Amino acid sequence: MEGLPLVPPSAAVPPAPAAPVNEAAGAAGVGDVVHSPVMTARHVNVFYGGKHAVKNVSLDIGRNQVLSMIGPSGCGKSTFLRCLNRMNDTIAHARVDGSITLDGQDIYDRRQDVAQLRARVGIVFQKPTPFPQSIYANVAYGPRIHGLARNRSDMDEIVSSSLQRAGLWDEVKDRLSQLGTSLSGGQQQRLCIARTIAVSPEVILMDEPTSALDPIASAKVEDLIDELRANYAIVIVTHNMQQAARVSQRTAYFHLGDLVEVGPTDRVFTNPQQKLTEDYITGRFG
Ligand SMILES: Nc1ncnc2c1ncn2[C@@H]1O[C@H](COP(=O)(O)OP(=O)(O)OP(=O)(O)O)[C@@H](O)[C@H]1O
Ligand SMILES: [Mg+2]
Repeated sequence: MEGLPLVPPSAAVPPAPAAPVNEAAGAAGVGDVVHSPVMTARHVNVFYGGKHAVKNVSLDIGRNQVLSMIGPSGCGKSTFLRCLNRMNDTIAHARVDGSITLDGQDIYDRRQDVAQLRARVGIVFQKPTPFPQSIYANVAYGPRIHGLARNRSDMDEIVSSSLQRAGLWDEVKDRLSQLGTSLSGGQQQRLCIARTIAVSPEVILMDEPTSALDPIASAKVEDLIDELRANYAIVIVTHNMQQAARVSQRTAYFHLGDLVEVGPTDRVFTNPQQKLTEDYITGRFG
């Protein structure tokens, strides 16, 4: 960061738009400018057998910001999220078409190493899913399989810094050899976030990461999301609109597989451009 002016991004004068500006979102993407997106999705369709679950979705993922995806149950949020790191590959009857890039490279290219992709685009699920191993081993798992540590002290450093960035270090530093599953639900979720961070991803996907947590644990994860965006692009699916408003800079509203609207979170919540969005955020639907 050395040498960069200390101006918050919102106060900086945006450069002239050179990159695509949510071209396919059209009027629904009003005010939605993503400069130099880390990921782009263009005309993405997902089918489960004959079921068309995601319909022609084009969306950019910005760097150092949080994009929230909201919409009624079954509208395709998780399905679209899973496309971003090819988790749908594991579902035999799922078919994905369209194009998704990470740093300009097609992630569905035949030559793409999928394990490598999932390290660069990590995912955190609704239910915390620690491995039945120690806290240390949970965080060390990814760096070990990706060969990121040369020796034990390297690994110790990765584990402690990941736990620190996940806001869990102080609570676990004296019990690293205990089982990850021995932690509380909120701690387990932060452990899963530490595990994701440990392989230095560029993008973190989160599918309802706080819906199984109590309000205090949820607030900790929300604070963490806000801190993490300094270093990562984050995409979060949430049913909690207050949460979307608190943690995200951009919000995308999905309805029956369509991306209805995407734009700056405050604009989407105060001045939605589409009736479907308005009905949903005012509680008339969903
Ligand atoms: N593995 C699957 N096989 C077949 N259909 C699926 C599968 N997963 C999801 N679907 C269907 O695809 C559609 C989109 O589902 P998805 O899970 O993406 O919705 P969602 O917006 O995440 O919903 P929720 O808010 O309830 O989590 C739904 O109609 C769902 O039933
Ligand atoms: Mg879902």
